[in-house]
Amino acid sequence: MRALVYHGAGKKDWESVADPEPVDPTDAVIRVDAVTICGTDLHILGGDVPEVPDGLVLGHEAVGTVVATGRSVGTVRPGDTVVVVGAGPIGLAAVTTARLFSPSAVIVVDPAEPRRRAAERLGAVAIDPAADDPVEVVRAKTGGLGADAALEAVGIPETFELCTALVRPGGRVANIGVHGRPATLHLETLWIRNVTITTGLVDTRTTPTLLRLLAAGQLDVSSLVTHRFRMADFLEAYDVFAEPGRTGALKVLVTAG
Ligand SMILES: NC(=O)c1ccc[n+]([C@@H]2O[C@H](COP(=O)([O-])OP(=O)(O)OC[C@H]3O[C@@H](n4cnc5c(N)ncnc54)[C@H](O)[C@@H]3O)[C@@H](O)[C@H]2O)c1
Repeated sequence: MRALVYHGAGKKDWESVADPEPVDPTDAVIRVDAVTICGTDLHILGGDVPEVPDGLVLGHEAVGTVVATGRSVGTVRPGDTVVVVGAGPIGLAAVTTARLFSPSAVIVVDPAEPRRRAAERLGAVAIDPAADDPVEVVRAKTGGLGADAALEAVGIPETFELCTALVRPGGRVANIGVHGRPATLHLETLWIRNVTITTGLVDTRTTPTLLRLLAAGQLDVSSLVTHRFRMADFLEAYDVFAEPGRTGALKVLVTAG
């Protein structure tokens, strides 16, 4: 069979390999038709929905992240002004799924122009933090109060701290980004603001709900899939995905054949 084989950091190849065989009694060889994997959220799509709409397969991974995070903490409520910091696939999925909860406005902060354009296509107002101060813009749009909900979708200390500055008193901050460095919790300003801060790792609890919403056409994530490849062009797919600044890639869909 053909397989993408890793030979260490940055070294991978599309090779002919021996067919897999069980070695230990607990091993299993399974054929997977459609799957999304992100840490703990393995869910095999096998007859859960009558047909898999284009864009569902890879879109689900990102959307699942946000529904899992948003739903479990009730981050977004009807009428909210929502700010999403970071407009990668995860942040854009946050924009899409935030709409399930009927916010009055969704504002996105991202320095990358193609990502801001993608957010605007989803109906969000986009802020370039290099050109405008997001805190000033959001306060100007909210009578000086700040956002009801701020979703962090980057994973660096600066953007977490920005979310805590963007949120209004009584508001909610949901951290989605994966952080590798400590961030400062500014209790000297936050202690009096009654904010709620939550974190979350995607899991499979919301997957059945997502599949129903996608199959019913109530959640459209097709615009998140920017490129399509056949399995034989897997290496090119990886290169395109690895350079979103050049390629404009969000989610890359690879199909068998
Ligand atoms: N919680 C979970 O279960 C879960 C699941 C999947 C991914 N994630 C995490 O979500 C985060 C986003 O994932 P992604 O795939 O969209 O990543 P990505 O790298 O494609 O997108 C990140 C975006 O953030 C923007 N950005 C960078 N610096 C910024 C700044 N200072 N202010 C505003 N925007 C800035 C970039 O321009 C980019 O558009 C990552 O940290 C990822 O690991 C979390």
